[in-house]
Amino acid sequence: MKIQGKTALVTGASRGIGRAIALELANHGIRRIILVARNQTHLADVASEIKAMGVEGIVLPLDLTQTIDVNIAIANTWKHYGPIHLLVNCAGVAHQAPFLQTKLPNVQAELSLNLMGIYNMTHVLARRMASKREGRIVNVSSLMGKIGAPTMATYSATKFAILGFTQALRSELSAYNIKVTALLPSLTETDMVRNTQRFRWVASMTPEKVATVLVNSLGKESPEILVGWQSHLAVLGSRIAPRLLEGWLHLTAPKGKPKPQSPLWSRSF
Ligand SMILES: NC(=O)c1ccc[n+]([C@@H]2O[C@H](COP(=O)([O-])OP(=O)(O)OC[C@H]3O[C@@H](n4cnc5c(N)ncnc54)[C@H](OP(=O)(O)O)[C@@H]3O)[C@@H](O)[C@H]2O)c1
Repeated sequence: MKIQGKTALVTGASRGIGRAIALELANHGIRRIILVARNQTHLADVASEIKAMGVEGIVLPLDLTQTIDVNIAIANTWKHYGPIHLLVNCAGVAHQAPFLQTKLPNVQAELSLNLMGIYNMTHVLARRMASKREGRIVNVSSLMGKIGAPTMATYSATKFAILGFTQALRSELSAYNIKVTALLPSLTETDMVRNTQRFRWVASMTPEKVATVLVNSLGKESPEILVGWQSHLAVLGSRIAPRLLEGWLHLTAPKGKPKPQSPLWSRSF
């Protein structure tokens, strides 16, 4: 897909990977970006950065778990700003906890945003893209959507589900010339992982690196975009030596008690 002259909608654009993707799209000459997240001030800051690059940034504050609000907002946005060619479903939330200490509200928050949030936005936009017979949808999963990670069971489950959702839509929506792709970052330095109990020997990357890989891949037809050599190695390992990978995960997974000052074990990150 050539992004020059096109309009994109990026969720989770107020910070982290979504913000980096919005800036990278602007850097590559997209015409307009609709910036979605809850925090209006942060979105306005991103819109200013984009404007300085000569790209129009539309601030659209939304809680993606609120289906009716999403439907109304997208209907209005489509009417005012015309067709949206590229949707990047990036907003997400993660809660880390040993499974036996998992709290139901945290699990529900992950399901509501990571699954229902993606469903809501995709459903309302794909119908409009289908009527134009043109569209590209990128669903942000994770390496944890390929490899279930200890202490991240429900987050991993949502990211596995996103890959199934993507694969099904990819086939179903191709009849409408809508291409659907999953992006699978591995550990990336954002608010999400601040204060987390890290997996040992896993190197992190920057949100800018993830954004660069995505935007460079938009011209290709890959169903899944893995980011970084560690991800390729881990996915290869899971295919050819799954027991070995399981042992490695066991060795590297966080085992210690959470630090007293870290709210991680019971909060989102
Ligand atoms: N960081 C990593 O290591 C990593 C690795 C693999 C995959 N990922 C995935 O990458 C995506 C982005 O993660 P990130 O690391 O950039 O996280 P982040 O820095 O915590 O950003 C999360 C984004 O989601 C938005 N958001 C949260 N709840 C929302 C809601 N209810 N409605 C609308 N927007 C909401 C946040 O904005 P507001 O708070 O303003 O709403 C923010 O823009 C996620 O899907 C995550 O699972 C991250």
